Amino acid sequence: MRTYIIAAAGFAAVASAAYTAAAPVKTYSLCQSATKLPLEGCPEGTLFVSQTNAAAHFRSIQSAIDSLGNSSIAPAHILIDAGNYTEQLNVTRAGPLTLLGVSELPRLGASYANRTSSTLPAAANAVQIWWNSANNNASFPDNAYTSVLTVAPNLNASLTGAGPTGFSVPDDTPVGSSDFRAYNIDFRNEWAPRASGPAHAVGVSRATASFYSCGLYSYQDTLYVGKLGRAFFWDSVVAGQTDFLYGFGTLWLSRSTLSLRGCGGGITAWKGTNTTAPNRFGVYVADSQVLAANETVKTEIKGRCALGRPWNAQHRSVFIRSYFDESIRSSGYVQWSTSEPRVNNSTFMAVWEDYGPGWDESGFRASNVTLVLDQESAAPYSSPQTVFLDGNALVAKTEWIDKEALPAA
Ligand SMILES: *[C@@H]1O[C@H](CO)[C@@H](O)[C@H](O)[C@H]1NC(C)=O
Ligand SMILES: *[C@@H]1O[C@H](CO)[C@@H](O)[C@H](O)[C@H]1NC(C)=O
Ligand SMILES: *[C@@H]1O[C@H](CO)[C@@H](O)[C@H](O)[C@H]1NC(C)=O
Ligand SMILES: *[C@@H]1O[C@H](CO)[C@@H](O)[C@H](O)[C@H]1NC(C)=O
Ligand SMILES: *[C@@H]1O[C@H](CO)[C@@H](O)[C@H](O)[C@H]1NC(C)=O
Ligand SMILES: *[C@@H]1O[C@H](CO)[C@@H](O)[C@H](O)[C@H]1NC(C)=O
Ligand SMILES: *[C@@H]1O[C@H](CO)[C@@H](O)[C@H](O)[C@H]1NC(C)=O
Ligand SMILES: *[C@@H]1O[C@H](CO)[C@@H](O)[C@H](O)[C@H]1NC(C)=O
Ligand SMILES: *[C@@H]1O[C@H](CO)[C@@H](O)[C@H](O)[C@H]1NC(C)=O
Ligand SMILES: *[C@@H]1O[C@H](CO)[C@@H](O)[C@H](O)[C@H]1NC(C)=O
Repeated sequence: MRTYIIAAAGFAAVASAAYTAAAPVKTYSLCQSATKLPLEGCPEGTLFVSQTNAAAHFRSIQSAIDSLGNSSIAPAHILIDAGNYTEQLNVTRAGPLTLLGVSELPRLGASYANRTSSTLPAAANAVQIWWNSANNNASFPDNAYTSVLTVAPNLNASLTGAGPTGFSVPDDTPVGSSDFRAYNIDFRNEWAPRASGPAHAVGVSRATASFYSCGLYSYQDTLYVGKLGRAFFWDSVVAGQTDFLYGFGTLWLSRSTLSLRGCGGGITAWKGTNTTAPNRFGVYVADSQVLAANETVKTEIKGRCALGRPWNAQHRSVFIRSYFDESIRSSGYVQWSTSEPRVNNSTFMAVWEDYGPGWDESGFRASNVTLVLDQESAAPYSSPQTVFLDGNALVAKTEWIDKEALPAA
């Protein structure tokens, strides 16, 4: 007998003193006691994917996704058995879809509570999805072709494109998933053990997606949040070396680990789109930890990694109440390059109340590129509710985020 639990561990309401006390381990279940088919305890209609269980509905995850079609926007759930799946996943369905990886243990548990340790969460998820692919030497028409998982209404909407505003699609292009969720799944693009051209693990464009206790592993461009993409991460690991959080949309990571596998470019590389309407497009890393991937890397990258650099001058990123290990360079952020700085007074590369050996407030201030915020200047970027807006209106829209992971408004 086996119990499938969807673990959500260690969450406590976001407080200004992050991680000072061990948070209680808390679990909740979407699929409890799923011991036989149909999956008792799972939401009605849950599909089961397994490589080994004879009673499974599907052997591959994409075949389960494809079977859902588009004609209904009813919420759908896919439970995925432990295993190593070599697949490239595309989610174009407009309705809500949840991928549940089986898990017997909370992934990170209370380890977030221990700020004196720079040990990465050791456990990998029991569900691993692999697609090793990089866009080096222009081997693909666009970086999007490399992704392990893409959530977007169609191929064109998923493309990164070039130039100040990237690939354009017509305004009447439909939106993709209104509420995609993944729990307890690792998405791995391990094309080469170093940055070797863009290699996405996950891309989210013109769609809304959230990830809980997941792992994203690549070296360059690991996580892409494209135009009108909204992505939320909680209790997850995102690993990379170069520009590994990048895009145009809005990304909030909380209670997560950014795992530095080397230094290149910056951790964040955002491109603001030219719009006169108010927006909060950008990348926000809150109540998280930024750490060298292991002791060997730690020695190599000490004092070298940049928090970010501007993909264009409208870059916006904020690190909030997060722990920086000694990998972070004393300037914090950097220019795009010496010959092409891409920094002007629209560039918003900021830190707010971060701490740890990599926090160097005087170094940050002296850099002229890193903004050290105060309560007032940080307020517009202080919670998921202040950055995830309904279109261009400055109105919060966060019902797509698992309420267990949202701080009280
Ligand atoms: C999982 O699959 C990937 C890609 O096919 C492969 O590189 C990796 O070695 C596999 N891992 C295990 C544990 O089988
Ligand atoms: C890309 O091209 C360069 C220059 O021709 C070559 O040295 C390198 O091996 C190529 N990389 C890959 C992964 O093919
Ligand atoms: C997913 O989309 C990519 C293009 O981004 C395409 O090359 C690939 O064949 C698609 N895979 C599936 C399973 O639909
Ligand atoms: C779902 O509909 C969208 C919007 O019309 C379309 O782009 C997408 O290809 C469709 N996906 C599937 C799985 O039919
Ligand atoms: C995708 O974009 C290209 C280039 O703009 C265009 O030619 C093509 O028709 C578009 N495809 C779809 C399905 O809209
Ligand atoms: C440390 O991490 C780097 C980057 O991921 C990897 O190449 C290397 O093999 C790791 N070393 C050890 C000892 O785990
Ligand atoms: C921004 O868009 C407006 C309206 O399309 C245009 O007039 C303006 O020149 C653009 N500015 C830049 C810097 O691209
Ligand atoms: C900043 O630079 C961008 C790109 O060159 C330009 O579009 C924008 O107008 C500039 N903003 C200011 C305030 O100078
Ligand atoms: C930004 O730069 C422009 C052009 O130099 C200047 O007119 C404007 O006052 C500056 N804005 C701020 C907020 O500093
Ligand atoms: C920052 O600006 C000040 C004042 O303009 C200048 O003296 C200093 O050299 C600049 N620092 C860097 C690192 O560019």
